[in-house]
Amino acid sequence: MKLTIFAATGGIGRQALEQAVAAGHDVTAVVRHPKKLSIQVRTVTADLATPDVEALEYAVAGADAVLSGLGPRSNSEAGIAWRGTRAIVQAMQATDVRRIVVVSAAPIGTVPSPGRPKPPKHDPGDGFFMRNLFGPLVKAALRKHYASLALMEDVLRNSGLDWTIVRPPRLTDGPLTGTYRRAYGQNLRRGFLISRADVAHLMLRALEQPETIKQTIGIAY
Ligand SMILES: NC(=O)c1ccc[n+]([C@@H]2O[C@H](COP(=O)([O-])OP(=O)(O)OC[C@H]3O[C@@H](n4cnc5c(N)ncnc54)[C@H](OP(=O)(O)O)[C@@H]3O)[C@@H](O)[C@H]2O)c1
Repeated sequence: MKLTIFAATGGIGRQALEQAVAAGHDVTAVVRHPKKLSIQVRTVTADLATPDVEALEYAVAGADAVLSGLGPRSNSEAGIAWRGTRAIVQAMQATDVRRIVVVSAAPIGTVPSPGRPKPPKHDPGDGFFMRNLFGPLVKAALRKHYASLALMEDVLRNSGLDWTIVRPPRLTDGPLTGTYRRAYGQNLRRGFLISRADVAHLMLRALEQPETIKQTIGIAY
């Protein structure tokens, strides 16, 4: 496939890039710091905080699918997931590219947004610990970032594109196993961890599974 990978220098993005190239896909990487790329592929330089419409359209034109591991490096960049993904979606709409897979986060199913003002209070996959202790603490600490991810999910739901949103729990730098649980529309019971490599694995796998279109997917060991 012809793939365009945004944020290919990030933890998940780099894994997606390396796995995609290893699988023989024809990859374009879109990054703000090309020197950080772990392997050399066709590259478009773009800072998604100040999106260059022409560069983004050039980067996605002709792609069979777009993958994005975009997310903030610091609290001050918290809005980037939403704003950057909106720019990616606009470029895809302008160039008639339909398929996109992005990374959100496990708690977002219960975070309100303009598009989902009354989400369920609890994720059906979350147990007592996550619902009552850890979940509320993390949501408070990452409030701005989670608001941005919830807005990003709204952008995709309203896009008319063939989107898939992956919602991982805590990420690790563990190895690629290809052996993990996943669930549509909910988190996994006692699923607290997943490696960045396995998230990238699921994102690539989703491209071959049309049933993942317009789905959020929980993933964990
Ligand atoms: N950490 C966790 O435990 C956890 C859990 C659940 C979900 N998540 C979500 O998963 C996402 C991905 O995780 P990760 O570990 O792969 O993140 P990461 O290593 O921080 O990667 C973020 C990527 O976004 C890029 N980026 C940020 N601002 C940009 C901008 N203005 N223009 C272009 N690119 C920009 C970064 O580029 P540079 O390389 O140039 O900085 C980097 O490639 C996180 O952002 C978070 O939303 C994280």
